[in-house]
Amino acid sequence: MNEPTVHQGLAQGRVVIVTGAGRGLGRAHALAFARAGARVLVNDLGVALNGDGETGGSSPAGQVAEEVRELGGEAAVSTDDIADSEGAARLVRTALDRFGRLDTLVNNAGFLRDRMLVNLGEDDWDAVLRVHLKGHFLPMKHAAAHWRAEAKAGRTPRARIVNTSSGAGLLGAVGQGNYAAAKAGIAALTLVSAAEFGRYGVQVNAVAPAARTRMTERTFAEDMAAPQDGGFDAMAPENVSPLVVYLGSDAAEGVTGRVFEAEAGRVTVMDGWRRAAHADKGARWEPGELDDTVRALLATSPEPEPVYGAVSVDEARR
Ligand SMILES: NC(=O)c1ccc[n+]([C@@H]2O[C@H](COP(=O)([O-])OP(=O)(O)OC[C@H]3O[C@@H](n4cnc5c(N)ncnc54)[C@H](O)[C@@H]3O)[C@@H](O)[C@H]2O)c1
Repeated sequence: MNEPTVHQGLAQGRVVIVTGAGRGLGRAHALAFARAGARVLVNDLGVALNGDGETGGSSPAGQVAEEVRELGGEAAVSTDDIADSEGAARLVRTALDRFGRLDTLVNNAGFLRDRMLVNLGEDDWDAVLRVHLKGHFLPMKHAAAHWRAEAKAGRTPRARIVNTSSGAGLLGAVGQGNYAAAKAGIAALTLVSAAEFGRYGVQVNAVAPAARTRMTERTFAEDMAAPQDGGFDAMAPENVSPLVVYLGSDAAEGVTGRVFEAEAGRVTVMDGWRRAAHADKGARWEPGELDDTVRALLATSPEPEPVYGAVSVDEARR
């Protein structure tokens, strides 16, 4: 049995959808919301790590819903594909039908098909963009349509959306061009939806997590292993959930349009694209003039963060 945590009660009375909640981070979020007092719609299509092999039925979403009930919480199950228009609409409808309201949407479902760009098949590009990017857009659209109707009826909600980006999307990652593009898109979608939905009482933020799940357990097996000595299990997915519960609660009033990295015991505000040095000629440049200008601008601008997995040109030639 899981121990109650300090954020117990923060989501009291809220109805929360968590997509991809049958395993890994989504499962941890669903259980944390339940422990914090929320009723939870546990969604999961039950696919393999590369998105293949839809199992349908109630497993693994059904198993997590059962775990929520064992904690004394209330849960319902959705096995809808969140990247399908009808599936996303049904997801939101199910929460409303089962619990009579919707307060928080956590977009988390997704999978990987890693390849170097020169070897990346078009199908693998499409599948990863679809599940992450469309799989965020469609549930947000249907949830926001409900909240807009509530606001227009004079019942402006204190609604929350928590999206799931990734360090790969914010800084880039070698071998993950499709995934990085989708996760960068999710960061941009977070800013746009926060700006558009604010007037309906909806706040939107994103987390870029790092944790030990089937997505990372092979690549980062050593770095992410649980300690043998019973010390703090830094890479447990449960460590990401408190921030997700907080952002999905009333307590986060006024926090919107932000991207946070969440890993182990650390919460980091990510500072996105912003203008650095500039030069303005007041007229059209000749291409040949730009070498000196661009180099001078780069010399006075901050160095970019390194891309995950990148080696320098010198190293690559060795
Ligand atoms: N684990 C990490 O360190 C890490 C790092 C950065 C970002 N993320 C992101 O966190 C999220 C959760 O990943 P995880 O590590 O827990 O992986 P996971 O594979 O354990 O869980 C993802 C779940 O999503 C479900 N899913 C996939 N496609 C679906 C669809 N179309 N509809 C409904 N459910 C679907 C899968 O069945 C699976 O249970 C993902 O968006 C991932 O990209 C994870």
